[in-house]
Amino acid sequence: MKISHQLIAAICSLAAFFPTWTHARDWNTIKESGTLIAATEGAFFPFNYFEGPKLTGFEVELAEAVAKEMGLKIEWKALAFDAQVASIRQDRFDFAIASHGYTEDRAKAVDFANPHYCTGGVIAAHTDGPLTVKALQGKTVGVQVSTSYLDNAKKIPGIKELKTYKADPEAFSALKARKTDAWISDKWLIKSTLEKNADAGIVSGEQVFVERVSMILNKNNTDLKEQWNIALVKVMSSGNYLKMSQKYFRTDISCN
Ligand code: ARG
Repeated sequence: MKISHQLIAAICSLAAFFPTWTHARDWNTIKESGTLIAATEGAFFPFNYFEGPKLTGFEVELAEAVAKEMGLKIEWKALAFDAQVASIRQDRFDFAIASHGYTEDRAKAVDFANPHYCTGGVIAAHTDGPLTVKALQGKTVGVQVSTSYLDNAKKIPGIKELKTYKADPEAFSALKARKTDAWISDKWLIKSTLEKNADAGIVSGEQVFVERVSMILNKNNTDLKEQWNIALVKVMSSGNYLKMSQKYFRTDISCN
């Protein structure tokens, strides 16, 4: 039988359209392997960042503690923040923990575990810059791409220009160099970043919105989500969570 060229071409273009034809690893498979495969970004200080070649931070330590409760180790993958939701849908790893705030849009694409911290987006600017939502009128604002800061900044009327950056440190650098007038990011990240860069002349201002942050995973991976949630409760009630929260933030950032 002769297969037509058109048929071959059609099959090839279908294969290109679905480059990773994979399935979410179910809980039993994960448990048997002994290792969770997790993604984070590595550029969201102090939640997930690199110390030399090593991934660390509050979320990295927390995920490792949760995994330990589950009797598992974690194999980390560092991935650009804006690629994470799509990569989960392609089952490139079991979950991502990179400060994803719950949004209805994201919840259409992926599942959210129970929140591991509560936070919000705040404005940062030079001491003489716009530090309130109102003062952002006519100003240039920098935010990380694909974030809730971008979504919420879009709702602020009168902003002259929204500049997006691949990662948050670039948005901070742009503000320092006065390429933007203000930066919107996570309230704990801004606090920690400004403490570490006290000579930058940048201060934090008004809070723009609140959000609850969770690890995200593929839909229909309910067992993994439940196991994570159970282990998270244990890490939170054992005092281990508080110890990590105090270490990174000198306060309890949980939603309790
Ligand atoms: N919390 C924000 C959001 O949900 C930003 C998260 C950015 N995370 C990161 N690792 N850069 O959109």
